[in-house]
Amino acid sequence: MLVLGIESTCDETSCAIVKDGFEILAHVTKSQINLHREFGGVVPELACRDHITTITPVIQETLSQAGLSLDDIDLIAVARGPGLIGALLIGITYAKGLAWAKDIPLIGVNHIEAHLYAAMMSLTPDQLQFPALGAILSGGHTSLVLINQIGQYKLLAETVDDAIGEAFDKVAKILDLPYPGGPEIEKLAQHGNPHSIAFRTGKVKEQPLNFSFSGLKTNVLYTVRGKDLKRSTPLSLIEKQNIAASFQYTAFSDVIGKLKLALSQYPYIKEIFLGGGVVQNQKLRSMLKEAITLPIHWPKPELCLDNAAMIAGLGYHKFFENPKNMLFDLEAQTRISF
Ligand code: KG4
Ligand code: ZN
Repeated sequence: MLVLGIESTCDETSCAIVKDGFEILAHVTKSQINLHREFGGVVPELACRDHITTITPVIQETLSQAGLSLDDIDLIAVARGPGLIGALLIGITYAKGLAWAKDIPLIGVNHIEAHLYAAMMSLTPDQLQFPALGAILSGGHTSLVLINQIGQYKLLAETVDDAIGEAFDKVAKILDLPYPGGPEIEKLAQHGNPHSIAFRTGKVKEQPLNFSFSGLKTNVLYTVRGKDLKRSTPLSLIEKQNIAASFQYTAFSDVIGKLKLALSQYPYIKEIFLGGGVVQNQKLRSMLKEAITLPIHWPKPELCLDNAAMIAGLGYHKFFENPKNMLFDLEAQTRISF
């Protein structure tokens, strides 16, 4: 089955053609990072305008990369949320138009669930082992999920305030680094001492698996600007490197501690799947490898950030489970819980 996927939830316009859920035949992603950089974050109105002009060439380029036409496509899968409402509507409306005009069934896919599926695409179907533990570490979400099968999940933990990627972006802003902050913090941290400052993440009362990163971000702010927020002396490079390294180490130690706690509560878990932009971080990967002996799978680099291959891949499984054409029912959902 050839599935054409479309992703436009935030600041990437992406299209992919995936065969039988795993084999990526073509994949084109256009990032809007340069458009939003000067504003220090995603500007929804600009994101929408860019999706409108970009979506047609991105889809055309994907089809030509694969040497296929829309007549060859068996299913269209589109990200139905969570995301920016205007941005979602552009992808969904476009997908509905194609599906209607070409009489191809349409399915809507939860973009967060797709981030978890992205790591499964590095394996073959017979290599997948369940139950597994999933961790989504992205700009908008920080969740731990028990995966019984593709499509069967139990949400174990969430963040009660900032997402981990959001904390990276906010700390980068405090340190005067450009958007997106995650890769900038990672670079700076390489030369810093992770144990130079004792930062702390928040603890959530009676919910030891849940995350809280907003206090950690405030810790960094006080370290940089003083408790009264009046300090304006610029930081030296080494001070910035130490802050970045200590922040990153604290955030990742918290994630790893919670993964270990979840593994002790569910000892029958066979492997771990990670997804979302933050899992690109090499320090996180090395810390995880040292701390956890179970097999850990992360997506290929081009599948870590928002992308249509994971949407098309997961769309295949969802349609197989429930082959219903959603053409007339599909709506954008800015929030979707697991
Ligand atoms: O998955 P994604 O596109 O976000 C959502 O769908 O919400 O990931 C974007 C997030 C941003 O917050 C970015 O700063 C973070 O992933 N990020 C990183 C790294 N690369 C991207 N965080 C830490 N280290 C990185 N190398
Ligand atoms: Zn995402």
